[in-house]
Amino acid sequence: MSAPKKLFIKTYGCQMNVYDSERMAEALGGEGYVETKSADDADMILLNTCHIREKAAEKVYSELGRFKGLKAEKPDLKIGVAGCVAQAEGEEIMRRQPLVDLVVGPQSYHRLPEMEAKTRAGQKVLDTDFPEEDKFEKLKNRPKAKRGPTAFLTVQEGCDKFCAFCVVPYTRGAEVSRPADRILREAQDLVERGVREITLLGQNVNAYHGAGPNGDLTLAQLIWELDKIDGLERIRFTTSHPNDMQDDLIEAHGTCAKLMPYLHLPVQAGSDKILKRMNRSHTAESYIRLIERIRAARSDILISGDFIVGFPEETEEDFQATMDLVEEVKYGTAYSFKYSTRPGTPAAERPQVDPAAADDRLQRLQALLTRQQREVQDGMVGREVGVLFEKTGRLPGQMVGKSDYLHAVHVADCNRDAGELARVRIVSSGANSLAGELIG
Ligand code: 5AD
Ligand code: SF4
Repeated sequence: MSAPKKLFIKTYGCQMNVYDSERMAEALGGEGYVETKSADDADMILLNTCHIREKAAEKVYSELGRFKGLKAEKPDLKIGVAGCVAQAEGEEIMRRQPLVDLVVGPQSYHRLPEMEAKTRAGQKVLDTDFPEEDKFEKLKNRPKAKRGPTAFLTVQEGCDKFCAFCVVPYTRGAEVSRPADRILREAQDLVERGVREITLLGQNVNAYHGAGPNGDLTLAQLIWELDKIDGLERIRFTTSHPNDMQDDLIEAHGTCAKLMPYLHLPVQAGSDKILKRMNRSHTAESYIRLIERIRAARSDILISGDFIVGFPEETEEDFQATMDLVEEVKYGTAYSFKYSTRPGTPAAERPQVDPAAADDRLQRLQALLTRQQREVQDGMVGREVGVLFEKTGRLPGQMVGKSDYLHAVHVADCNRDAGELARVRIVSSGANSLAGELIG
């Protein structure tokens, strides 16, 4: 028997790309590939790219350039570009970088085995179509390897919101939901393989409306179906648009014990003028009212968000409105970015903010968000939380896991295994994690 071929995948960007990379590895696993952690001994290299922020395409070209020597040594090495840069740049990648054998968009991963065979026959392959079929359905039925305690599960892809700064509607296409029965089967399978916590993924996940036996299901209805799976202990979802936060989902946060008290709800900015220009179709006020309703359903929920500073035409006053909104909401964690132009999006054509002013605003916003994050984390001391253990810690006998609120928690002298859920009392708060002790 010949030695297995080796596959090296480098994943950039969001959790959906992590999920997609796993599926690509499984698809090529069926063709005799095993994963390797080093590009040097690979027979195939895939870059699973992200196009959401900052010179993404340039980074991909410079990364590809680094494989030149490797390809010269190993002419049989196949190099592919997947993900959103592949979708956005397509033929341009093939033209600019002759090293590339394969360009595959996010909707075509199930066709990777055929594509790989074509590259082995010396062909160049480009597939950036948006086919109708469910790629994940075609990617299933691989050997049932044991899994860690947490997993991602894509339930929805694409976005119809067209925020003026965002490339996702162009690279991932229109919003599509997977049928509920397929998601439930995949979740059941994950649980049988050891998974205890599932994070449902979608670019706009709370717009989920997948087909069920009696019509479409909302995300909340899907969560209630998942709630019935024995052995599944925790459910999370990400990421959401404020306008798609439906009543039944808010209610589920108060009534579904498996749904964790953590919500990533990006607002992007606090000025109504900027929100309008971003095409966000909500106001600062409507967002704050929404957070209040969510907190009325689940008072301890940890709110997380995304922010963009320096969006075209943002004034100091607009930026202050963002700071005011942050003060009011009090975020448990957040991601903040300086606006960067994405060619082809509406905002790319508009007058840009002075980069030095944008840098300064980003620093001030991050200082505030970091302070809030620390306050929320410190506020956990003395509280009892659930912790799902994921792995052993650095010290002997120590275990590390995530709290219900997604804080990293380590517990000393812990006679528990990965995959166990325990009640833990938080005893101290460090720079990036909490320390706790088992209760009982
Ligand atoms: N510039 C800066 N940040 C962006 N994001 C999306 N597009 C851009 C852009 N062009 C941020 C948004 C989004 C997160 C995933 O990335 O905050 O919520
Ligand atoms: Fe992009 Fe999110 Fe806006 Fe959709 S809702 S366009 S994914 S920022």
